[in-house]
Amino acid sequence: MNYPVWEVQGIGLPWVVGIIAIFHVMISQFAVGGGLYLALVERKAIKDGRSDWFPLIKAHSKFFLLLTAVFGTVSGVGIWFAIGLIQPEATSTLIHNFVFGWAIEWVFFLVELASAIVYYYTWDRIPQALHLKVAWLYAGASVCTLVIINGILSFMLTPGDTWLGVAGSGHESTYFWNAFFNPTYWPSLMIRCLVCGSLAAVWALVTFSRLDVEAYGKTRTELIRWTVRWLIPAFILMPIAFLWYAAMIPATNKHLLELGMATIGSGAFTQVTRIALLSIMSSATIAAVAYLFAYKYPRDFSSGHAIAIVGIALAATASTEYAREAIRKPYVIGSHMYSNGVRVHDVDKLNQTGFLTQSMWTPTGAAVTDVQRGKAMFAGQCMYCHTVNGYRSMKHFLEGRDAKAIGNILTMLRQNKVDSPYHAYMPPLVGTTEEVAALQTYLLTLNQAAPAGSVARK
Ligand code: HEC
Repeated sequence: MNYPVWEVQGIGLPWVVGIIAIFHVMISQFAVGGGLYLALVERKAIKDGRSDWFPLIKAHSKFFLLLTAVFGTVSGVGIWFAIGLIQPEATSTLIHNFVFGWAIEWVFFLVELASAIVYYYTWDRIPQALHLKVAWLYAGASVCTLVIINGILSFMLTPGDTWLGVAGSGHESTYFWNAFFNPTYWPSLMIRCLVCGSLAAVWALVTFSRLDVEAYGKTRTELIRWTVRWLIPAFILMPIAFLWYAAMIPATNKHLLELGMATIGSGAFTQVTRIALLSIMSSATIAAVAYLFAYKYPRDFSSGHAIAIVGIALAATASTEYAREAIRKPYVIGSHMYSNGVRVHDVDKLNQTGFLTQSMWTPTGAAVTDVQRGKAMFAGQCMYCHTVNGYRSMKHFLEGRDAKAIGNILTMLRQNKVDSPYHAYMPPLVGTTEEVAALQTYLLTLNQAAPAGSVARK
């Protein structure tokens, strides 16, 4: 615990990152797919001599610029802000490993942003061939940002044996490429590319559906039909990409998924599986709705339909990101660092020397009560996934449990046996026996009517 802990009641820390991230992914992946889309649609218009397409593509590029450059950028900064506050330990580890990767990504990002602006403002002002080159420059730069960030994101799930072998030695960054091209790099890149292509179509349908049918009849129909085709690669290849990805995730994480799959019949499947299914079903719905409405009856395809597709895409993005996060539990960096910032190789040491003693943020002095120490344990180790009385509420989980029952749970958490039901999704509880007892004392207070002046709850 090198850092203080930010307390967020209600939605809890996971959803602060989650909400910003889902929003960001929707837009940043559109930025990548949409760039490629603009380059290809403009190329087609030039090749086929369709000058009537140009004003419509221009209109779409304005929407594209606004959405990606404003909301994409702001939400990207938001992610940095949120993970820096919520997961400082993991953020620090990632920066130490990948600082060079991020530096390169930001260079591409600058090129991307600059070319998006140039692209929009040079419509009808520079020769068409040169304008198309700007589109390709944008598309290339934005694909590069994805290629780079994908290495860092997939690393968090599967750092790979080589990197894990040197983790904690101080030589981690020497193994940059091993960490970057980790076991899930390629399948993850494939999934993200397919999603980027689909989002390009989803958002383009918003622009084209809003065009007046009478004024743009035929052109509108052609553009809508051409756009729907962008969903085909994902529809065909996503299952393959998903199976490839699943084959590369560590057995322990996959177990959570398979456990769910095998028990679907009895209705007892896990949350991860339910979410994964939701993600597959919503993606299939997008393809079905796009085909049935947009492709077959483009004249009747309204902006309401297009917005509905965006809504489903948002559900698909949210569930996919949620499943990805859930599969990684209880780690923030696979097999190296738990979600609460405790490193796997520090567990024994912390059990002997104490968790609170390692933290400069622990209340100290003779006047400090067990409840206060227990609360600090909770903040340092549990609050990354739980709240006191909101999301994954500890008060709710412990309702009706007495000191002995809570003690049993804590013992199980501390022992962290492989066959423990908690092993798959909660990190081991670390600290000395006194610290664990203090945590127990604090947890007991959650469901007690607080006496006046109680320090137990805020
Ligand atoms: C990596 C995230 C994570 C961390 C950190 C974490 N938990 Fe959990 N915990 C979960 C999840 C996920 C569940 C299951 C929630 C559900 O069933 O909806 C859970 C469930 C629980 C339950 C209910 C279990 C039951 O059998 O009813 C208790 C009690 C609990 N956690 C205590 C703790 C304590 C105490 C800590 C800190 C020492 C902690 N957790 C840290 C993720 C975490």
